[in-house]
Amino acid sequence: MGVIASAPAKIILFGEHFVVYGEPAIVTAIDKRAHVTAELRKDKRIYIRSPDLKASGYFSQKNHFQAEQGGQEARPKLEPIKIAVQKILALSKEENGVNIDVQSNIPVAAGLGSSAAVAAATGTAVSQLLGIEISKEDVFRIAYEAERFVHGTPSGIDPAISTHGGVLLFCKDKGFTPLNVKEDIPLVVGDTGIERSTGEMVSGVRQRRERYPSIVNPIIKSGGKVALRAAKALETGDLNALGELMNINHAMLSAIGVSNEFLDRLVYSARKAGALGAKLTGAGGGGCMVALSPPDKLKQVVDAIKLEGGVAFVARKTNEGVRIEG
Ligand code: PMV
Repeated sequence: MGVIASAPAKIILFGEHFVVYGEPAIVTAIDKRAHVTAELRKDKRIYIRSPDLKASGYFSQKNHFQAEQGGQEARPKLEPIKIAVQKILALSKEENGVNIDVQSNIPVAAGLGSSAAVAAATGTAVSQLLGIEISKEDVFRIAYEAERFVHGTPSGIDPAISTHGGVLLFCKDKGFTPLNVKEDIPLVVGDTGIERSTGEMVSGVRQRRERYPSIVNPIIKSGGKVALRAAKALETGDLNALGELMNINHAMLSAIGVSNEFLDRLVYSARKAGALGAKLTGAGGGGCMVALSPPDKLKQVVDAIKLEGGVAFVARKTNEGVRIEG
């Protein structure tokens, strides 16, 4: 008998990249989830199958990898999931092998936190399977370790939101504060379909910051102020201010070099169709943008993004973090 756990995707509403340098950021969990099924195996191997990543294969106890699907590239894709599994197996007195099956409707490498959601769900499913009690803080740490494999210096914002859900004001090394958001925040996501590496985008920003510290550091600081002002707007339901702050945030992300022409086109087409504000979300360089739309303009905003060549969908916030599926 297997155990199924799921965890949500996320949208960073404010402060991506700046958060890596200790500034506050705002992130919301959304109604797309990764589902992970964990089952015991008779042998001691870890078998992982992820149709989204087009990869599957076996890790032996000595960490040898044998690909079943996806060839050479399968190992680095599956490694973060294996890290999450091993962290739990290490807590067990017995030596176990497990099968992990990942089913997710979160676009991969698109800035929506797919890898952290899969890692959080994996840690939770395997711990339940083995009867090991772990706290949400443990799940966060496990997903954080997995995320470190994906890129070396993660702020922890992705593992935090896929673990806890809701809307969080997040600060690296300081933790998070859940925001009390009563209003609906009607969001449209536009996906460029361009996969990119978060690690490369983060390292590009680091280089620009090193070359022009007196210019880039104030932008980073100011990005933190945008997030703090936006936290107020979220709690008071001031959608007009939120939209304006999203536009300011997008301009700052452009200034530090993480937007591109396609993202800009999607952002401007959403604004033209009536969005109150729009910005890229996540690491940039491809991946997704997000628009805040008045409820009666959602369809126009979706259509405008599609017309510009993006894949568009309406995203709703969810309070549900990682959970066992009944
Ligand atoms: O995982 P992504 O692509 O949504 O990017 C995460 C956000 C960054 O701020 C760019 C990196 C981080 O670790 O916070």
